[in-house]
Amino acid sequence: MPNEPSIQRIDLDEALRHFDPLVDLLQELYEDQRLYAPPIFLDQESRRTRCRKLIEHLQSDTALLWGAFIASDLAGFLWAYERDFFCERQMYVNAVVVKESLRGHGIGRLLLDAVATETSRRGLLTIGVSCLAGKHDTLRFYDSHGFIMERCQLVKILDKGRLLHDD
Ligand SMILES: CC(C)(COP(=O)(O)OP(=O)(O)OC[C@H]1O[C@@H](n2cnc3c(N)ncnc32)[C@H](O)[C@@H]1OP(=O)(O)O)[C@@H](O)C(=O)NCCC(=O)NCCS
Repeated sequence: MPNEPSIQRIDLDEALRHFDPLVDLLQELYEDQRLYAPPIFLDQESRRTRCRKLIEHLQSDTALLWGAFIASDLAGFLWAYERDFFCERQMYVNAVVVKESLRGHGIGRLLLDAVATETSRRGLLTIGVSCLAGKHDTLRFYDSHGFIMERCQLVKILDKGRLLHDD
């Protein structure tokens, strides 16, 4: 890698400044997921809508966002939030993605370290994440950062035609 990444919390103003790179990274996340799951939310408008949701959550202080910057370029991000999960308050990683060309250089690890530090600072005891079954690389990534498999989530698709859309 040409420069070491620096991990920074992204606030609302910064997120608005990096709106398009965030959308592009979401696109990479969905591209990756389409290999393992029905290609939902793949049209461009849906990606922008999801990013706008993130902005709304930052506005209402219900999202935490970290960016991995190389120089001033966004190389990856992690979006997390606190949630009630069974009997505990937990930090939940909603999305984490690193630019494809930069994967495997420890950026994902740095992003997970950042959320772990903030989670401990808040006095929370666990970080949750869900991962598509069959994504063995990603499962290995979480495993090597201390995550353990706890539950299995199942889905029954009732209307495939309406679920699948792409651009
Ligand atoms: C998962 C992801 C965030 C990890 O980020 P990263 O910067 O590549 O991770 P790190 O370099 O810190 O860790 C590398 C480890 O991640 C795993 N990994 C997952 N995907 C990888 C990829 N495409 N290239 C290299 N390593 C990958 C490997 O197990 C690797 O461990 P190893 O070096 O022992 O083989 C990133 O690969 C990514 O954006 N993947 C696509 C989106 C995704 O799956 N997000 C998670 C949704 S639940």
